[in-house]
Amino acid sequence: MSEKDILILAVETSCDETAAAVVKNGRTVLSNVISSQVPLHTLYGGVVPEIASRKHIEKIIPVIREALKDADTALSDIDAVAVTYGPGLVGALLVGVSAAKSIAYAAGKPLVGVHHIEGHVAANFIEHPDLEPPFACLVVSGGHTHLVEVLDYGVFRIAGSTRDDAAGEAFDKVARAIGLGYPGGPKIDRKAREGDPFSIPFPKAHVEGAPYDFSFSGLKSAVLNYLNHRKMQGLGISEADVAASFQKAVVDVLTEKAMAFTEEKGYRKLAAAGGVASNSALRASLAGACAARGIRFYVPSPLLCTDNAAMIGCAGYYEFMKGERSGLSLNAVPNLKLGNR
Ligand code: KG4
Ligand code: ZN
Repeated sequence: MSEKDILILAVETSCDETAAAVVKNGRTVLSNVISSQVPLHTLYGGVVPEIASRKHIEKIIPVIREALKDADTALSDIDAVAVTYGPGLVGALLVGVSAAKSIAYAAGKPLVGVHHIEGHVAANFIEHPDLEPPFACLVVSGGHTHLVEVLDYGVFRIAGSTRDDAAGEAFDKVARAIGLGYPGGPKIDRKAREGDPFSIPFPKAHVEGAPYDFSFSGLKSAVLNYLNHRKMQGLGISEADVAASFQKAVVDVLTEKAMAFTEEKGYRKLAAAGGVASNSALRASLAGACAARGIRFYVPSPLLCTDNAAMIGCAGYYEFMKGERSGLSLNAVPNLKLGNR
């Protein structure tokens, strides 16, 4: 390791994954440990915040130890501790924030609070060494749907957001309605491969006068109405056809708006970020649309699209290099806005 290498220990506990990672110079992942609570929450059909917090408390120290061990790194070699401090579930965030603060204090290392969505966007830097701002980005996670201009590292201009449900939320709700259960996104993705995406014409919602905003609640209602209608008529449904048709409606809207945004703002690079960016149909659709327009498309591999700490280490590195430091008074901010520091 050269003299100037910067090592960040990163911690992420905003929802249902307890994660820690060691990242070198912002883009090289030395370790990336993710302890998923999915099997636990599956029993309840969704994330139960109190259970998530308790599980994070149980796992956080072993996960951090494992991340340091996998990276063959001692705490004394670390240059800073980065941690997600929002947005997310407050009780879940607090576990990571408290652990990171304690480690930073005990080891005498600087602490850097990171915005969770800034982390999702930064996941793109890990596997694409050539990617540098500025670029256009489609952020699609369980809690957020945004079209943003990434003006510089950690500097965003939001052009559009969802008016109601986030894209991931729509996947989760529709999956529950057709009986696929939690977590909905990956289950719809898999089921849709057996179905016909043209079989049911679900609406593609556009928001009047706001070309970069999204709305998914109308689509969700259309799916629920379709299911009720079929039930009342005593007709069965094809889970695969509903999944494929719903997914197509979401993917088409996301692709159309992302392409219009990228072209109208004059960018030649589009990145996708967040859990829904691991959706196979969305990846294929965006890749095809970008290729047809000569726009370079970037997306992290699926494991780095969903919640992980490597992305927090990457974003934390750029904040650290800008001189950003959080005091030991750092608190969890469940509704933290993008661009607020
Ligand atoms: O980014 P993420 O891991 O956590 C948040 O920050 O919210 O995103 C989780 C969301 C969930 O709604 C999940 O259903 C969705 O991402 N998701 C997917 C897929 N994998 C995860 N949605 C569609 N297709 C997938 N393959
Ligand atoms: Zn996330």
